[in-house]
Amino acid sequence: MKIIAVNGSHRKGKNTALMLNTVLEEAAAQGAAVELLELSDYNIKHCLSCNKCLGRPQCSITDDDMAGIAEKLLEADGIVLGSPVYWANVTALMKNFMDRTRYMHMTQNMLAGKVGAAVTIAGLRNGGQEMALRMMEFFLTAQGLLVVDPRGQEGPIMYGAAAGSLLADVQDGKILWRKSIMEDEAAILACRQLGRNMVNLISKLKK
Ligand SMILES: Cc1cc2nc3c(=O)[nH]c(=O)nc-3n(C[C@H](O)[C@H](O)[C@H](O)COP(=O)(O)O)c2cc1C
Repeated sequence: MKIIAVNGSHRKGKNTALMLNTVLEEAAAQGAAVELLELSDYNIKHCLSCNKCLGRPQCSITDDDMAGIAEKLLEADGIVLGSPVYWANVTALMKNFMDRTRYMHMTQNMLAGKVGAAVTIAGLRNGGQEMALRMMEFFLTAQGLLVVDPRGQEGPIMYGAAAGSLLADVQDGKILWRKSIMEDEAAILACRQLGRNMVNLISKLKK
């Protein structure tokens, strides 16, 4: 079983990567092979809107890194997307990645039946986490993936793994921020649960 995480953060290894790695660590503890893909490492050109993918399951842009990324998506049983919130939405990197996968579902549903999940983080409370999560979940559903959320056996703690940097506390006239998103305990619990839920569903589907 292979689970791949796709990080749309413009900052490699920061909060979004920490959340994705938490999902992957838990999935690995349940036996999955895992890989984190940082989109910022790759050259991904913008979609040209040439519409060639309406007639064939192939992108007309071939001189960038997207084909290699697509290969990794096709190999995986599970795909977890992560994006920080930029203007109450996903980042430009994540959106560009989504645009370039259009050929994967216009004439064939190449990713159908895989398990999908999403995580997000924003600076503020109510900073747009729900919008960004819904964007990623919409994308995954439209691509035919089965989307899991971080519900645990004891019940839901949040709808979607969403974190926030704001500590919501003002001391000496200064707003306090979490130093690392690992301090947002509820969000980290949700990431761990997401990892377990992905592995559970993939195991059931493989039976
Ligand atoms: C261009 C830009 C737009 C942002 N827009 C929002 C926003 O709409 N709401 C919010 O709460 N935080 C916003 N943020 C803050 C990021 O979501 C936050 O810094 C996040 O931790 C970045 O994730 P990273 O550590 O993976 O880079 C924005 C940051 C940038 C750079």
